[in-house]
Amino acid sequence: MKAYNLMKISFYSRSVNEGFARGALAAFLAQADPTVPELADMKTAVSEAVTNCIVHAYPRQVGLVYLTAALYEDGLVKITVTDRGVGIPDVEKAMQPMFTTGNPEERAGLGFAVMQSFMDKVRVTSTPGKGTRVVMSKTLSTKQ
Ligand SMILES: Nc1ncnc2c1ncn2[C@@H]1O[C@H](COP(=O)(O)OP(=O)(O)OP(=O)(O)O)[C@@H](O)[C@H]1O
Ligand SMILES: [Mg+2]
Repeated sequence: MKAYNLMKISFYSRSVNEGFARGALAAFLAQADPTVPELADMKTAVSEAVTNCIVHAYPRQVGLVYLTAALYEDGLVKITVTDRGVGIPDVEKAMQPMFTTGNPEERAGLGFAVMQSFMDKVRVTSTPGKGTRVVMSKTLSTKQ
C-alpha cells in the first residue's frame, strides 16, 4: 500500500529538537484531522523515540535523527524514527519496562512502554554500531 502523503525531516540530536519534532509532526498530521487524544498520543510517542536518539544514540557527539511520517487512505499513520548511532545490543531486553542503561536518577526505562501503550504497533530494529529504527503505527478513528 502506497502512502498518499509523506514527510521526512532530519535534525541534530540536540535536546531542543524533541519539541521541534513534536511540533513538526503535529503540523504534518493536522491534514489527517486526528482527535485531540490521538494527536497527543502520537506526539508523546514521537517525543520518547526522539529523546532516545538524543540521550542514547550518540553519546560522544551530536548526530542526525531522521523522522518520517506517512499517511494512508484508510487512516493509518506510520511514524519512523531512525538514527545512525550506537545501536541496541538486545532489543527485547531494552524494550522491557524499567530497563535502562541511562542514569537511573534521570531515566525510568519506560520510553518503549510509553510508545507501545500510545500506539497500536511498535517495531524496533537495531544493529550495534550502525543505529536504530523505531516504526510506530496507529489507525485514526474515522469521524462523521
Ligand atoms: N535510539 C537508541 N539508541 C541506542 N540505545 C537506545 C535507543 N533507544 C533506546 N535505547 C536503549 O534502550 C533502553 C530503554 O529505552 P527506554 O526509552 O525504554 O528507557 P530510557 O530511555 O532508558 O528511560 P526513559 O525513556 O524512561 O527516560 C535505553 O536505556 C537504552 O539503553
Ligand atoms: Mg527513553
